[in-house]
Amino acid sequence: MKKQIFALIFAVLPAFAMAQAALEYPNDPVVVDLKDKAALQDGAKTFANYCMGCHSAKFQRYERVATDLGIPTKLMMDNLVFTGAKIGEHMKIGMQPQDAKVWFGAAPPDLTLVARVRGTDWLYTYLRTFYEDPTRPWGVNNKAFPAVGMPNVLADLQGRQVIGCKQVQVVEGGKKQFDPLTGTPITHEDCHQLTVVPKTGKLTTEQFDEKVKNLVSFLAYSANPVKLESQRIGTYVLLYLAFFFVFAYLLKREYWKDVH
Ligand code: HEC
Repeated sequence: MKKQIFALIFAVLPAFAMAQAALEYPNDPVVVDLKDKAALQDGAKTFANYCMGCHSAKFQRYERVATDLGIPTKLMMDNLVFTGAKIGEHMKIGMQPQDAKVWFGAAPPDLTLVARVRGTDWLYTYLRTFYEDPTRPWGVNNKAFPAVGMPNVLADLQGRQVIGCKQVQVVEGGKKQFDPLTGTPITHEDCHQLTVVPKTGKLTTEQFDEKVKNLVSFLAYSANPVKLESQRIGTYVLLYLAFFFVFAYLLKREYWKDVH
């Protein structure tokens, strides 16, 4: 009997896992380019202006960011350092975790490594899917992080995003469905669709997506600041090995010449 119960549990486990996956909001993919300095600079600026009120990046130094992203020290101090910190200091903030817990219900985590933990696609989706929900303490909820404790801090850029019903095209097996007779798209009503109320934000949807992409790129850089450097060094190492191989081979030929 025991055996059968175990067998049953293992048989239905995958079904639960799948149900869980189906409930999760799908991530919007984003391609970040760590070589695009202008994008990283823009992202750093957004981070300092919109995120550092609550989140630190305490494993990162301002100076390192300035050097890596090619930002002159004075510009960095004027536009990105608001905490009275010196250029050589870590990107810490004044907010105490215990206070934050009282205000938001959860302490805002340090974001230095968040891109490694959550992934860039998730971050890109999360920051663009806040929507109005009067039942929540801050009046907003989030598709990627239901019942989130963070307010929608980018609302002035994005505008008011609301959830509602919209006709959406039916997709089966990854393919959009069309009526075989008329060729028109087959649609159904979906009441979980997000829409931005026109003219309520400073940016258009494309501009906002770009802003968030840059911010996510900065977080990706911050989670692995040596990545670019290691790729560059890696290339030199391979070139050196290829070069060395030629000489090693010639030397070997020289040594073995008399043996044969
Ligand atoms: C007013 C304070 C506040 C500001 C400003 C703020 N956040 Fe948050 N953030 C929070 C709080 C509080 C949480 C924790 C939410 C929870 O656990 O429910 C959070 C959570 C997050 C998370 C989820 C982390 C995780 O893995 O659980 C990410 C990512 C994040 N914030 C990114 C940002 C970014 C990027 C910005 C700037 C655009 C920003 N936040 C600005 C308060 C803030």
